[in-house]
Amino acid sequence: MSQPLIAIVMAAGKGARFKSRTPKLLHTVHGRTMIERVLESVEAIAPQRLLVIVGHGNNAVRAVIPHPHVTFVTQEPQLGTGHAVQVALQHVSEKSGTVLVLNGDIPLIRSTLLEELLRQHGQQQAATTLVSTLLENPDGYGRILRDRRKRLVGIVEERDASASERRIHEINVGLYAFSLPVLKQFIPRLNKQNAQKEYYLTDLVGILRKARKKMSVFCAPDPMEVLGVNDRVELAHISQILRVRKLEVLMRSGVTVLDPPTTSVDDTATVGPDTVLYPGVRVEGPSRIGSRCVIRSYSRITDSILDDDVTVNDMSVINESHVAQKAAIGPFAHLRMNARVESEARVGNFVELKKTTLGRGSKAAHLTYLGDTTVGKNANIGAGTITCNYDGVHKNLTLIEDECFIGSGVELVAPVAVHKGAYVAAGSVITEDVPAGSLAIARERQTNKTDWKLKRNQKKAKAS
Ligand code: UD1
Ligand code: CA
Repeated sequence: MSQPLIAIVMAAGKGARFKSRTPKLLHTVHGRTMIERVLESVEAIAPQRLLVIVGHGNNAVRAVIPHPHVTFVTQEPQLGTGHAVQVALQHVSEKSGTVLVLNGDIPLIRSTLLEELLRQHGQQQAATTLVSTLLENPDGYGRILRDRRKRLVGIVEERDASASERRIHEINVGLYAFSLPVLKQFIPRLNKQNAQKEYYLTDLVGILRKARKKMSVFCAPDPMEVLGVNDRVELAHISQILRVRKLEVLMRSGVTVLDPPTTSVDDTATVGPDTVLYPGVRVEGPSRIGSRCVIRSYSRITDSILDDDVTVNDMSVINESHVAQKAAIGPFAHLRMNARVESEARVGNFVELKKTTLGRGSKAAHLTYLGDTTVGKNANIGAGTITCNYDGVHKNLTLIEDECFIGSGVELVAPVAVHKGAYVAAGSVITEDVPAGSLAIARERQTNKTDWKLKRNQKKAKAS
């Protein structure tokens, strides 16, 4: 077997510049946390071992990483990137191999770049190979120091750099390959004699240089891909780049995006060809939108499935729900918690469906709440219908079978069933099951008091 590859992802830092209660790496970039994005790329190169160093927000970070192959290493306290690697190496008993070390805050890193780094590192048989890039504005980053013959001699952190060193545009991106034995031998030599009183991993470069170890640099051609995210401005910037990239992929695959600057589709979502996304649409999570759909403005679709030819009118919110083909939703509709709208059904304005199935061809067109309800095929739910599904303790079920007609302003007090083809008169409060084919009226019969106004006026006239 070839030499083992051990990957170490550093994710213990506080991310102080985020000024957040949430650990920095749990902030999302275009719908996915930074740490997940980085781990996905690292896992794609299939290291024999993958160690993630956690510290700040330890438990929260562990919780979002469901990857079974990850070994978590707790770094407490966090004394710098060099210390993080020292702590990780205590869990590495292998004697030979290559160690890939990277900052956890490089969300755009691609596995192909990791592969290129490892290829160069192997070809050169270097003790370390690090990734650099050239930045117009290198503020905040460690600078790559080279001698007159352009050979790597060290890295200086911004805060320790002299004025002339700060003018260097080649920066350290925080992604390195090391020979494992070399790393183990030299890492104990790091010290904290620097501006931040931390063990800098980057000091190893100067140490290896003095020991005359072979080092190489891989200069990444696209700075965007390797930039670390240190605050929310950079986060927003990178999110924008990903957002535009995703829309471009969609447009090239046949999706019409009418206003790209206001439209967002998470990387985890898919949209079929000839679907039209109007301005302000957001599609989040692992949503799947079919072909030839029309999604009108300011609608948000999260963790949901829309089959082909679905129309979602303006300002609708669809959460964890399924809309079957040719159904129409909204404007101002709200589907949530496993709502299911079957094909050719119609949900109109100010209608909320929760844990409810609206059968094929059925309609709930106006001002309605259906919760914990199953509606069959070709039923009509009148304006203002409400299922009273909550008795203060339990959620109860409502059944409305095929071809029922529920008049306007009906309250269905669950648990209750309206059987096939039954009618319910407008304004009824239904507390008992309605048999198939019958008409239920559950309200006071109307009385008209004839000439009531005239009689009242006569009474008044007498009294005065
Ligand atoms: C680091 C590099 C710098 C480089 C920059 C690129 C060092 C000393 N400096 O600086 O040369 O230009 O990245 O973005 O390495 N972390 C731990 N434990 C710690 C400290 C940090 O796990 O004790 C983790 C953080 O969670 C983060 C990564 O290491 O994911 C980098 O830490 P950060 O503080 O962001 O380093 P920079 O100052 O950006
Ligand atoms: Ca950083």
